[in-house]
Amino acid sequence: MYGNDFAATGDAGVPASDVAATSAGRTLLEQVEDAERELRSASERSVVGDDRLQDYFDAVINADQKIEPRDWMPDPYRLGLIRQIAQHAHSEIIGMQPEGNWISRAPSLKRKAILLAKVQDEAGHGLYLYAAAETLGVSRSDLVDQLLTGRQKYSSIFNYPTLTWADVGTIGWLVDGAAIVNQVPLCRCSYGPYARAMIRICKEESFHQRQGFEILHTLAHGTPAQRAMAQDAVNRWWYPSLAMFGPPDTASTHSEQSMTWKIKRFSNDELRQRFVDMCVQQATVLGLSLPDPDLRWNAERDHYDFTQPDFHELMRVISGDGPCNRQRLEHRRRAHEEGAWVREAAAAYAAKRAAREPAGV
Ligand SMILES: [Fe+2]
Ligand SMILES: [Fe+2]
Repeated sequence: MYGNDFAATGDAGVPASDVAATSAGRTLLEQVEDAERELRSASERSVVGDDRLQDYFDAVINADQKIEPRDWMPDPYRLGLIRQIAQHAHSEIIGMQPEGNWISRAPSLKRKAILLAKVQDEAGHGLYLYAAAETLGVSRSDLVDQLLTGRQKYSSIFNYPTLTWADVGTIGWLVDGAAIVNQVPLCRCSYGPYARAMIRICKEESFHQRQGFEILHTLAHGTPAQRAMAQDAVNRWWYPSLAMFGPPDTASTHSEQSMTWKIKRFSNDELRQRFVDMCVQQATVLGLSLPDPDLRWNAERDHYDFTQPDFHELMRVISGDGPCNRQRLEHRRRAHEEGAWVREAAAAYAAKRAAREPAGV
């Protein structure tokens, strides 16, 4: 769900009047659709060519059109995008583990099928993003190698354990929810292949958040033990979810340049605030509380005041000292090694086909 697209009434309905997650009155879903329309018209580029490469690049960015793989781009733009897209792709792939942990223990066949599809979607997201990164001149095997050797990071949120079934619901609601709030503005990113990948991903993430919300809603309206399990999961995931937006603006290293290049559109703190505003009303619908005693509406700011996550903990987890860092990477390495024969077979098959087919077909 894009934060607020539940019907006004219904089982797990969030009132449609919730506009907390909107920008200029547009819901998150509408923002994705706007971005998709903009992307189409931006591909018919009207900026006139300029012999000076840098000037032409700047003109395309300023005209809100898209930089495509064929275009010249400054090295820091290319390298920054590779870093960001790769980190994003790694997060999708590593992010399959915490929930994959519950596929065999889902409480019903239906729940199992839904979770299986969701985890599979995340693999697909990784795939789109690795493909987008490859258009910048880097190979996928190189990127995977950087993940496995710890030279590139993935989102710190996936280093927390999934202790109960309610964690699966909470991840869908809060973690996929934070991901959407982060990613909807990336649908308008200046690099065409990344923007296109993000539009598709955001549409799929909307289902992920919806299914998480529905799991939690069912538990929160179940037995006292189920309700307690749901509340416990929300208590554990709330602050790590807030930390997903990264360090505060005052300490964010890549933000300013990224904004100038129209890769990033909003600051970490702006997006974090948007997420909090969105969650408060949804928590009310769930009948669960958010574990922050200082959470309250501030009429002057027109936003909720809230307690910031522990950024020291975020740094500790990013640097490898979270509850599951070692386990996640070990699992990924093992899966990569055990999948070697599949990659070899696919490469042999592709080579055989290429040899059989005449060139250019
Ligand atoms: Fe995803
Ligand atoms: Fe997701």
